[in-house]
Amino acid sequence: MKRSSRMPGFYRLSVAERRKATAEATGISPADLAEVLDRGGLDPESADKVIENVLGTYSLPFAVAPNVRVNGRDYIVPMAVEEPSVVAAASNAARIVREGGGFVAEADAPVMIAQVEVLGVRDPLAAAGRLVAAKAEIVALANQAAQTVVERGGGTRDLEVRDLGEGAIVVHLLVDCRDAMGANIVNTIAEWTAARIAEIAGGQAGLRILSNLADRRCVRVRASVPVAVLQTADLDGAMVMAGIVAASRFAERDPYRAATHNKGIMNGVDAVVIATGNDWRAVEAGAHAFAAQSGRYRPLSTWTATESGTLEGRLEMPMALGTVGGAARVHPGARLARRILGLDSASELACVVGAMGLASNLAALRALATEGIQRGHMALHARTVATAAGATGELVQRVANEIVEKGEITADAARRVLERLTP
Ligand code: MEV
Repeated sequence: MKRSSRMPGFYRLSVAERRKATAEATGISPADLAEVLDRGGLDPESADKVIENVLGTYSLPFAVAPNVRVNGRDYIVPMAVEEPSVVAAASNAARIVREGGGFVAEADAPVMIAQVEVLGVRDPLAAAGRLVAAKAEIVALANQAAQTVVERGGGTRDLEVRDLGEGAIVVHLLVDCRDAMGANIVNTIAEWTAARIAEIAGGQAGLRILSNLADRRCVRVRASVPVAVLQTADLDGAMVMAGIVAASRFAERDPYRAATHNKGIMNGVDAVVIATGNDWRAVEAGAHAFAAQSGRYRPLSTWTATESGTLEGRLEMPMALGTVGGAARVHPGARLARRILGLDSASELACVVGAMGLASNLAALRALATEGIQRGHMALHARTVATAAGATGELVQRVANEIVEKGEITADAARRVLERLTP
């Protein structure tokens, strides 16, 4: 980042102007942005190297959220998402949090879990004792299978054994994957060590695979928002704060609400995870398993009012992301997203993604606690409706404005307005 990510009025610019502003802020040339983004981030030849049976590509809008400050550093954050208002909401909330100094985030060491299941174990307690005693041997074996990550300063750090009952145990190898998400490394280690682990345990090797409940690789994010910046046209800051705190309590009391609360977090999280070419199914699986880890499904974030009169949000969730390897090797759009972010490590990416989750959550709760989400949402949705009705260029916004004013955001209404505007 050459300068602040605060970009007032960014949303009002044309696509070309936004690219120019992004180029100026990041030092990436407009030509580089155009080369990748004009092709939707991925051409069919490259796509053919990513998955099988490729016919072409399937695009999502690629946007950036300005205003984001995490640990005192400014980021312009790439987001790929189909849902209107997600980007606007996250940028808006990031601007609000910025007033309180920005997000403060920390990520655990990038440790993933390799699971080796062993079945038919007669004495699980004794087997666990033998496995723990053989830790140095098993760790050395695991590191043989993952030379590259060991050379980068990572590798298998520890071993744990869990008794699953009925003669089944599972060995967890805790693998520091450095800047890789680590699925390949961890799966290789699980397969490579399974036979020896089963032999020591005195059973048969079962499944050998990573766990997506990456609870050793969590991110924790905090935001302190001065009450005054929460005010809306109709409500003062204190009332909005009380509404957000009450909404947070609702999610803590009720798993049905917690699921939706967490969906709002994942709006911000997934959009960045997808834009950066990371495995969003893995992050989703980890998030929801973590949310349910206490035996009851809980919100991944909470909001409280502090005695000094600020609103404080806290989020904790697993965040298994990579900045090396994975799809980005062959996905120019993902590589560009990482350049736009301009960060150095998977842990730093985890902090930014967690912050975007908390930002999206704040935006949702602020809207829900005040005017509800439909007004803002429908205003943006109206542009999709106008486009679907055939509007192009400037007509999109004109048709959208008219159907919003009429309060009739439907394809029929959009078509009627369009016919009138383009006789
Ligand atoms: C919609 O995509 C997300 C929300 O439902 C989240 C929430 O209810 O907190 C608005």
